Amino acid sequence: MTATHPIIGREEFDRVVADPARTLPGHAYHSSAFFDAEVEHLFKAQWFPVAHEQMVPTAGDFYTLDLWGLKLVIVRGDDGDIRALDRRCLQTGRDLFFNPFTQGHCDTVLGNVLGHRSWKYDLQGRVIDPDLATEEHALPRYALENWQGFLLINIDGKAKPYEPELATMAAGLKNYRINELTLVREPVVFDMEANWKLVAENYIEAYHHLATHRNTFEKVSPARSTFTDDLTDKVISLNMPIEVDFEQAFDWTLPPIASLEEADRGTFNAYLALPLFLLTPLHNSLAWLHLIPVSAERSFWMIYILAPAEYLEREEDVRKLVDSGIEIHNEDMDACIGNHKGFRSRFFEQGYVHPDLEKGVSLLDRHVLEAIAKGDPALVGN
Ligand SMILES: [Fe+2]
Repeated sequence: MTATHPIIGREEFDRVVADPARTLPGHAYHSSAFFDAEVEHLFKAQWFPVAHEQMVPTAGDFYTLDLWGLKLVIVRGDDGDIRALDRRCLQTGRDLFFNPFTQGHCDTVLGNVLGHRSWKYDLQGRVIDPDLATEEHALPRYALENWQGFLLINIDGKAKPYEPELATMAAGLKNYRINELTLVREPVVFDMEANWKLVAENYIEAYHHLATHRNTFEKVSPARSTFTDDLTDKVISLNMPIEVDFEQAFDWTLPPIASLEEADRGTFNAYLALPLFLLTPLHNSLAWLHLIPVSAERSFWMIYILAPAEYLEREEDVRKLVDSGIEIHNEDMDACIGNHKGFRSRFFEQGYVHPDLEKGVSLLDRHVLEAIAKGDPALVGN
């Protein structure tokens, strides 16, 4: 056993926890030791989204993904159940699939690498051999929860059920009838040289509309009219009232979802369920922003759209919707990547956020630190 070295000073820690106006220190956005602590005590200890059930609609359908050194496959078994398995052969250590972030189908044997020495596994992860078809030899399985079609895993297997912690988001999205929506396209993928926290912090506050989106989103939902609810479960809820005629504000040709009520149409919301399950309702669709922290310096951002099935046929309209999202997203990314570089400055210690208009940042930062301290108190200095 090696001794644990603190990754944050006690004073820095206390400043963030006690003062909603102070941010994490700059090193928390660059240090690989800090990132490792987040992986261990935040992402592996809590529920992390990995896929949507419509990515694996029939038996044998799979989706591969890599997370923090783990190689996973989400697969629907011949019994109809979806499992999250480690996709490395327990005999040879070999990855049973070629690439991560790939959807595909297997008929009866899991994987597409069939080396002569490798065991072969069935669609439930058991070795295809009567003598070896035991739990002991089966591919390791992670705890999986299905929330309204979204698949989330808990890697260390100790987290409490997630569903009760998502009540705020379930209530806010009730009229979207998520279970009736269809995944309409492949994700738009961004590979960013920015720490995941900068991306998530940017997502969960609207104060930056004033500068970053002054010619776009600020005209629709001005920063100063936005507000963030108090935390009552794991959901940070950012409310962005719409102050112009919606039809004129966006060149969107897909109509609002029929089941929405007037109140749903008067605002945009951004939800961040801690630690990192992000859903944004957009009136005519629901965006799942699958943000994957890759390292302290790199993040993947895969944006999936869900909408009523009949919108599927309207490819041009869906493209328009996605393109308008990409335009706003690119404005955000310039800011995030710029901040990421700036936080390297030795003069940047702990910044300031607006305690009301950037309340989501404070809630997220505090959660990160408290999860790390709970996981291993020695990671916080004296
Ligand atoms: Fe933004």
